[in-house]
Amino acid sequence: MGRRVLITGGAGFIGSHTCLVLLEAGYDLLVLDNFSNSSPEALTRVAAISSVSLNSTRLQIEHGDIRNPHTLDQLFSDAAANDRPFDAVIHFAGLKAVGESFQKPLLYWDVNVSGSRTLLAAMEAHACCTLVFSSSATVYGFPKDVPIPESAPIQPINPYGFSKAAVEQMLADLNASAPNTWRIACLRYFNPVGAHPSGQIGEDPLGFPNNLFPFVSQVAVGRRDQLQVFGSDWPTHDGTGVRDYIHVMDLADGHKAALDSLLKEGPQHLICNLGSGAGKSVLDVVNAYAAASGQNIPYALVDRRPGDAAITIADPTRAANTLSWRTKRTLSDICRDGWTWQQANPMGYRESA
Ligand code: NAD
Ligand code: WQD
Repeated sequence: MGRRVLITGGAGFIGSHTCLVLLEAGYDLLVLDNFSNSSPEALTRVAAISSVSLNSTRLQIEHGDIRNPHTLDQLFSDAAANDRPFDAVIHFAGLKAVGESFQKPLLYWDVNVSGSRTLLAAMEAHACCTLVFSSSATVYGFPKDVPIPESAPIQPINPYGFSKAAVEQMLADLNASAPNTWRIACLRYFNPVGAHPSGQIGEDPLGFPNNLFPFVSQVAVGRRDQLQVFGSDWPTHDGTGVRDYIHVMDLADGHKAALDSLLKEGPQHLICNLGSGAGKSVLDVVNAYAAASGQNIPYALVDRRPGDAAITIADPTRAANTLSWRTKRTLSDICRDGWTWQQANPMGYRESA
């Protein structure tokens, strides 16, 4: 039997793509999700693409909340009782909207911080000490130097970023409390975008998209009239903001690399950027998406969005050296796959869910 992994938030955007990669690599998965920002349909499609049966030993689904200690205790106890303990946890579950985190800070501290604490307490109690955690480049705030190495100061600028930094600190404290016990990979993602090339799974934001890529996709497919480009006077090659966009399948491969490494190499506390090391502007994305889709992407140049940095780009050296992982897919691949998903599912999962 394969290694068994508990995936919190596995129905979400990054989680669903990672489930696919892990199933194909032979891992058995149990997904815990409360579906507050996702649809069970994503997992139905993951099962179909990877030819496994839903709720077989390969892919089980538990509808529940990471903040509920009884749910977690039951999952770990049942796993042990059935002689199928979890070898590791990948912890995606959380809230991620920067704007919402200003409106509902206590909710963000509750789900992202208390939820993580509850999960870690259950892991500790059941002696499951291998964890891959979804952190974010947002912990760097306004970076002084780009590309950004992991040694850059942690200086969040919004409640969401503080919640991720708090969990990173909790993991450091936990690791220090029991050296040579924990195997932790804290992955700081840059800007995850795109979709599985099948077009069967992808990003499905509820309501008005906060982020560039889903907005551009919805303009291309005719759901929105035009993109607003936030700022054209940034100190960049064309005046628009520059980011390190990473194909979600590259990110999923990065999780597999981190998990494999933790299971093979033993106790450690790894903190690692996952990004490409290349920066693309808003207009680079618009042009690449227009070329990939053959659609016109109307846009208007408007004021800067408060809280934005001019440029964020990962220094991906550590991931290359420690995980032998680097991105393989280009911006053009990202746009092609994102468009395949958007065209096949113009309303996301809702039409077929
Ligand atoms: P997502 O919202 O698509 O996925 C998160 C999943 O967690 C969803 O399925 C949601 O239903 C679930 N969830 C939320 N609260 C829960 C709870 N209390 N109990 C159980 N399940 C819960 O987001 P994503 O883009 O896939 O992000 C995954 C993780 O990566 C998040 O922790 C996010 O903060 C982090 N991250 C995302 C990005 C990004 O731009 N997408 C960048 C950096 C870090
Ligand atoms: C990218 C660029 C915008 C929308 C966010 C979070 C970060 C992480 C990833 C979770 C910027 C511009 C955007 C639009 C635009 N998430 N833009 N028009 O802000 O880099 O990162 O997602 O951890 O924490 O902050 O991503 O996609 O919102 O913006 O011009 O309608 O696109 O100004 O330059 P961001 P984004």
